[in-house]
Amino acid sequence: MQFHITTQLPYTQDDFKLIRDAIYEYSGIHISHDYQGIFMRRLERRVTALGMESFHEYYYHLKYTQGNQDEFRNLMDVITIKETYFFREVDQMKTLINEIIPVLQQEKQRETIKIWSAGCATGEEAYTLAMLCIEKGLHVGSSRVEIFANDISQEAIHKAKQGVYRQTSFRTTDSSYLTRFFIPQPDGSYKIHDDVKEPLKFFCINLQDKNRLTFLPMFDAIFCRNLIIYFNDESKQKVIDSFYQKLLPKGYLFLGHSESLINFTHLFKLQHFQHSLVYQRSA
Ligand SMILES: C[S@@+](CC[C@H](N)C(=O)[O-])C[C@H]1O[C@@H](n2cnc3c(N)ncnc32)[C@H](O)[C@@H]1O
Repeated sequence: MQFHITTQLPYTQDDFKLIRDAIYEYSGIHISHDYQGIFMRRLERRVTALGMESFHEYYYHLKYTQGNQDEFRNLMDVITIKETYFFREVDQMKTLINEIIPVLQQEKQRETIKIWSAGCATGEEAYTLAMLCIEKGLHVGSSRVEIFANDISQEAIHKAKQGVYRQTSFRTTDSSYLTRFFIPQPDGSYKIHDDVKEPLKFFCINLQDKNRLTFLPMFDAIFCRNLIIYFNDESKQKVIDSFYQKLLPKGYLFLGHSESLINFTHLFKLQHFQHSLVYQRSA
């Protein structure tokens, strides 16, 4: 039996594997062996907060206590990596707004374009889309453009709904956006204007939970960036299948710069736009 000393509480490889597999089953997040030390240190905070004395005890609580879905939800707040910021990989958003939406509006003669920020973390991605739409003269709300955003972390969604951000979220934000769309707060943070915030629909949903996804409408575009890097091929496949189901024919899927579907599925084709490459669902 091998013990590791990266945590105050000792753990075995079996403890790690059992909890890792339970997390994978629930969320699709694959925790690699290299990340084990950091993961167990994060997890330890949750175990001790619950007053438990071992990872083993925690595993049984997670798996077998009635209402364990609540604990899975709490666990997601602890283990997910919610790194994000405003205007991240903004060229893709500009492609949607300047090149794709005008064509959709002409072709489909529809009132509303629906966009989904899947795995939005604390909301910066969804708010950036909203600001760029407003800047372009598009009405964000029940007509023209509707923006939905979800994350598995309830804490992240709570923060997104509050819409209050610190400097680190603005690392690539032009100050003109801060002036136009945010209200400075006495503690140095910035609060997004209510008229940008109110029309956005934030909700806590696990992308691996197909049943909950059925309640979502069909989308013209999905942004799912910097998320499937945490999935293995099996969970990536599940989520890509769900996006296929939730995208209108010829709808667009935006992945992060380090993520790709090459040699993975024939359901999407890579399309070249002026400043970005975007996956398009088959018709
Ligand atoms: C690194 S952040 C990316 C945020 C944003 N998309 C961006 O690119 O800036 C990844 C987010 O994916 C969320 N996530 C991971 N697995 C998920 C799942 N199964 N369902 C929904 N969200 C998930 C995490 O909670 C985290 O907030």
